[in-house]
Amino acid sequence: MKVTVVGAGAVGATCADNIARKELATELVLLDIREGFAEGKALDMTQTAALLGFDTKITGSTNDYSKTAGSDVVVITSGLPRKPGMTREELIGVNAGIVKSVAENILKYSPEAIIVVISNPMDTMTYLALQSTGLPKNKIIGMGGILDSARFKCYLSATLGANASDLNAIVVGGHGDTTMIPLIRYATWNSAPVTDFLTEEEQQKIVADTMVGGATLTKLIGTSAWYAPGAAGAALVEAIVRDEKKLFSCCVALDGEYGQSDICLGVPVIIGKNGVEKIIDYKLNATEQAAFDKSAAAVRSMNDVLKTL
Ligand code: 2OP
Repeated sequence: MKVTVVGAGAVGATCADNIARKELATELVLLDIREGFAEGKALDMTQTAALLGFDTKITGSTNDYSKTAGSDVVVITSGLPRKPGMTREELIGVNAGIVKSVAENILKYSPEAIIVVISNPMDTMTYLALQSTGLPKNKIIGMGGILDSARFKCYLSATLGANASDLNAIVVGGHGDTTMIPLIRYATWNSAPVTDFLTEEEQQKIVADTMVGGATLTKLIGTSAWYAPGAAGAALVEAIVRDEKKLFSCCVALDGEYGQSDICLGVPVIIGKNGVEKIIDYKLNATEQAAFDKSAAAVRSMNDVLKTL
């Protein structure tokens, strides 16, 4: 199994580090546009192999896509990260050009690859990758919902005093501060609805904290987060390469599902060796569906910006 991570910045390198530690690939390529940067990170990671005990062969590349040839999965993390006070959407101008060129280069050398998109604004970058590669829709997956769902579980676990791994909770919609929809009605603590244990006020705070989960970290760190985004990207790679048939919230092309078409948005899906294997139809109530439609409208207007670039 060969996996490429494009972008050796904090998110890309953390994702690659997780992939290597878990031996999700025999060959792992880390590619970056900065001279020597990916080679350096790859060498640093390789020097952890004896300490951590993994066999994955890691290669760094300065923008030489021939090294990525024959990849089964490619993770795109390239582009500028957020600065404090910035929305993900403000990155569209610069990141659209980067993601388009990365996706096209990847396709040249790995026409069979499944592409995971992490670059922001993630929903629009996923849509762009789908349009610019012309790949079938099961092969383009945006990683936003897995991260947002992990953050949702983090805030639920802190308030409930619960172990995060005992929680089931999912965030659908866009990967934006105002477009994501933490589905608290569906969240459970080892099968019991979390709403049984939380006041209305606590529920509202958990939902609000989840929605600005990324922005809170950007404010604290001074740039975008990387541990959880990198781990979420690796979890998605793991589900593909191990054919896990995991149910995750991912940003995928919709064709009438959840009442939306011609858009990539976060919904519950089954992820396996073919990428997106199935979209699962959660029965949203009227309020949730209205929030989903609002989220779709916001993402669609961001997608429209692509036409003006
Ligand atoms: C985040 O939410 C990087 O979009 C990513 O932290």
